[in-house]
Amino acid sequence: MARNAPPPEPAPAPAPAPAAPRHELFLVVDFGAQYAQLIARRVREHRCYAEIILPQDLGRRISGAKGVILSGSPWSAYEPGAPTLDPAVFDAGVPILGICYGMQLAAHLLGGAVAHAAHREYGPARLEVLPGGDGLFAGLEGPLEVWMSHGDRVERLPEGFEAIARTPAAPYAAVRHAGRRLYGVQFHPEVTHTPRGSELLKNFLFRVCGAAGDWTMRSYVDESVERIRARVGPEDHVICGLSGGVDSTVAAVLIHRAIGARLTCIFVDNGLLRRDEAEEVLGAFRERYQIPLVFADAGPQFLAALAGVTDPEEKRRRIGHVFVDVFRAHARSVPGARFLAQGTLYPDVIESQSAFGGASQTIKTHHNVGGLPKELGFELLEPFRALFKDEVRQIGRELGVPERFVRRQPFPGPGLAVRVAGEVTAERLAILREADAIVREEIEREGHDRDLWQYFAVLVPVKTVGVMGDGRTYESVIAVRAVKSVDAMTADWADLPRAVLQRVSNRVINEVRGVNRVVYDISTKPPSTIEWE
Ligand code: XMP
Repeated sequence: MARNAPPPEPAPAPAPAPAAPRHELFLVVDFGAQYAQLIARRVREHRCYAEIILPQDLGRRISGAKGVILSGSPWSAYEPGAPTLDPAVFDAGVPILGICYGMQLAAHLLGGAVAHAAHREYGPARLEVLPGGDGLFAGLEGPLEVWMSHGDRVERLPEGFEAIARTPAAPYAAVRHAGRRLYGVQFHPEVTHTPRGSELLKNFLFRVCGAAGDWTMRSYVDESVERIRARVGPEDHVICGLSGGVDSTVAAVLIHRAIGARLTCIFVDNGLLRRDEAEEVLGAFRERYQIPLVFADAGPQFLAALAGVTDPEEKRRRIGHVFVDVFRAHARSVPGARFLAQGTLYPDVIESQSAFGGASQTIKTHHNVGGLPKELGFELLEPFRALFKDEVRQIGRELGVPERFVRRQPFPGPGLAVRVAGEVTAERLAILREADAIVREEIEREGHDRDLWQYFAVLVPVKTVGVMGDGRTYESVIAVRAVKSVDAMTADWADLPRAVLQRVSNRVINEVRGVNRVVYDISTKPPSTIEWE
């Protein structure tokens, strides 16, 4: 997005490359856009493998690419210090699509003019497609609704370029070079507010770049199995910390397929899990997959460490320490263990390379919990470093992991401890666990969970007065949280049917001893967060 926010300080860091693909490669150049990840995901949805790279790496990598997409940016292309490209990349013969800043930067570098527009354009616009737009706009001839978000615009095209679409405010809403495969769009095809944006990206990939669409999860499974076998020697063992979540479950099943019983899983029951969770994980791993599993029953240790603690960050810190101690003790019991499997995902990898993002404040120390320190001395095995979460789910399906594991909602490492607001005790945990099971059951009953990112109960640290029969009660409050989100960065509360909320409320108050009130959390993130602590 051009010029929407003051440009943050550039902080380029080296990019840790994901596992080398054996697929056609598309490069998404990240100029500090909010949407670079989204662009890469959209490309992959069309079965084309996309990697996000920093601008300075494009010159070195472009020859291996089938096509390149230049992202938006909070910068202005003409501003000193703005992220830029070696202009030679436009001569590499590889198709390039510039989006917003990407298009403006290309125009700027190739001799056109970019300037601050008299009116910034933000929101929906009607796009008129002009003759000449047939490659990019094939099948999209009509007036199109597109999403604009820019303060700068291209005022003069570089030589050889022509407009292929316009809006009332942007005469160069889409452009192309007449003889070379260089395209630019001022609007954002990657966001859902551009309803047919995905088709436009598809046209770029398949019509302009001639993509084969060879990125499938089935091939990824086969390649990963081969790669794991090549890396883990015949005497080596791998340890995998299981949390019951999607990433660690699918990682374990994949690694097991590659090396069989040389994988040992360690499941730490911290006493902060949801109802039946430990049994489900044990059942699936021991019985269904026959994967060797060490079960660490450490609930009392965690509870002891949490006694008297109410501060959320202190809870996380203590849980993190106990976890490492317990894990280390059990890992030592696995002979020949050389590798530690982790479900690191691509967004974690790109966040650590963040091109031009300033340091963001720590809101919650998410990644310190469940993370294991380097001093454990293992080599890391991270089979999902190149994948987005929805791709891990697809891998799970390829591997035959049951749907109830694949579709699991995210669950925080510190578990119910951050949902028992205030002090965590065995009694308060028991109340929350029962209420949470009812919330999940009722929301899942008619499939409402399919549209939700997370849905759970929170035990609020206040008591309120109620009346049951003829008597006064003075008991706890349960809050119900159900949110929609795509990446947990932002979230909206779900508009659940009244009947569902009513059943939840009736059942929680009737069935859970110690609760006489249920409230529904109607806060968005931001300014709230998804979890209460
Ligand atoms: P918030 O509450 O910050 O949560 O909106 C965003 C996402 O992160 C999860 N979350 C955690 N995950 N350890 C984790 O592994 C944590 O300490 C933690 N805190 C929050 C939360 O469930 C949501 O998916």
